[in-house]
Amino acid sequence: TGMVTLDPGFGNTAACRSEITYIDGDAGILRYRGYPIEQLAEGATFAEVCHLLVHGELPTPEQLDELTARLRDNAAIPAGLRDLIAAFPVEAHPMASLSGAVNMLAAFHADACDPADPAQVDEATIRLLAQLPTVAAQIHRRATGQDVVEPDPSLGYVENFLNMTFGPTEGGVDPLLVRAMDLLFILHADHELNCSTATVRVVGSSQADLFASIAAGVNALSGPLHGGANQAVLEMLEGIQRVDGDVDSFIKKVKDRESKTRLMGFGHRVYKNFDPRSKQIKKLAQQILSRQEGEDRLFELALQLEEHALSDQYFVDRKLYPNVDFYTGLIYRAMGFPTNMFTVLFAIGRLPGWIAHWRELRNDPAARIARPRQLYVGPKERAYPGRS
Ligand code: CMC
Repeated sequence: TGMVTLDPGFGNTAACRSEITYIDGDAGILRYRGYPIEQLAEGATFAEVCHLLVHGELPTPEQLDELTARLRDNAAIPAGLRDLIAAFPVEAHPMASLSGAVNMLAAFHADACDPADPAQVDEATIRLLAQLPTVAAQIHRRATGQDVVEPDPSLGYVENFLNMTFGPTEGGVDPLLVRAMDLLFILHADHELNCSTATVRVVGSSQADLFASIAAGVNALSGPLHGGANQAVLEMLEGIQRVDGDVDSFIKKVKDRESKTRLMGFGHRVYKNFDPRSKQIKKLAQQILSRQEGEDRLFELALQLEEHALSDQYFVDRKLYPNVDFYTGLIYRAMGFPTNMFTVLFAIGRLPGWIAHWRELRNDPAARIARPRQLYVGPKERAYPGRS
């Protein structure tokens, strides 16, 4: 106990020591386990990054083979969960369906729920990584009224996910889309104590099981200030397009406090410089969108918004730069995902980070139950008036 410090939103409170991810927000640096994000984006696959985050080192070729095989062998979800997803309302938001389904994974994998048993934690880790894409794809099929496509053991992790989501196509899944999706998953894989990861740790600190903790992370991710921003950015761009692409008026509105409008996909608690992920993502957006016929009007609007904001004193003074969510939605849209699926894709990418943090917490001798303090500012003691 002792003196309690007020720190809303934990802007200045380190809740743990961590060996997973390093961020220098002023310099725009991001590293997973010491490896610069640019190098991982260039050379690694998502499966390698999963191993790196969860186990601390890049996999040896044998370890990678084993991980790949286990992910493949565990990709099918329990039949009961498949039936449950088929009964979800067609109009449900996919993030609501996702958190419900992840909660139910605990019920269907009761043999992997003991947080104190390392073998069960290992099983839970694999089943989550293997089955989240299957769950996500089946949620998409349900929401779009299409039949489920079962996992195909002949396909790689990301290829399989795209195949289950969009259905088999002649000639197989486009390799450029597979590479793009893999890269986006890598860029989302961890970001130290963001809102959802902090949530996973808070829930895990009560010794709740891994599935329960991850389901809580999914819910934290859904909000528009966090993972939900990728959906919000696209809706913002569409809104601007509806008023004839008037970027000037929109920026003016953002700067007017009364309007309570934010430039979605801009700003970050830690980065006060370019988010290194957003640089990679902008390049990827250019690459993917240049394959389409004609210009992409929403991409043009996004470029204009960025240019405007970066030269406007309001954004310069507050060090507001595009974040990871600014350009991702445009890529997902070009791939064929509906807007309300965007945050589900973020969740698939962030999953290894959530798991790595939960495991680090479980192995941290200094870890205690998360229990912040408060400063009470309510009424002083007063007497209940009683009944007359
Ligand atoms: N548009 C306009 N003004 C902004 C924005 C924005 N996007 N972001 C911050 N500001 C202003 C804010 O009004 C405040 O101004 P003032 O000092 O005059 O009151 C100042 O900048 C500091 O903002 P803050 O809200 O104290 O910053 P925070 O660290 O609490 O919030 C944030 C960080 C990411 C929630 C916020 O920047 C934001 O709401 N951005 C838009 C939503 C978004 O893109 N979220 C995705 C975050 S990145 C990855 C992820 O988690 O998904």
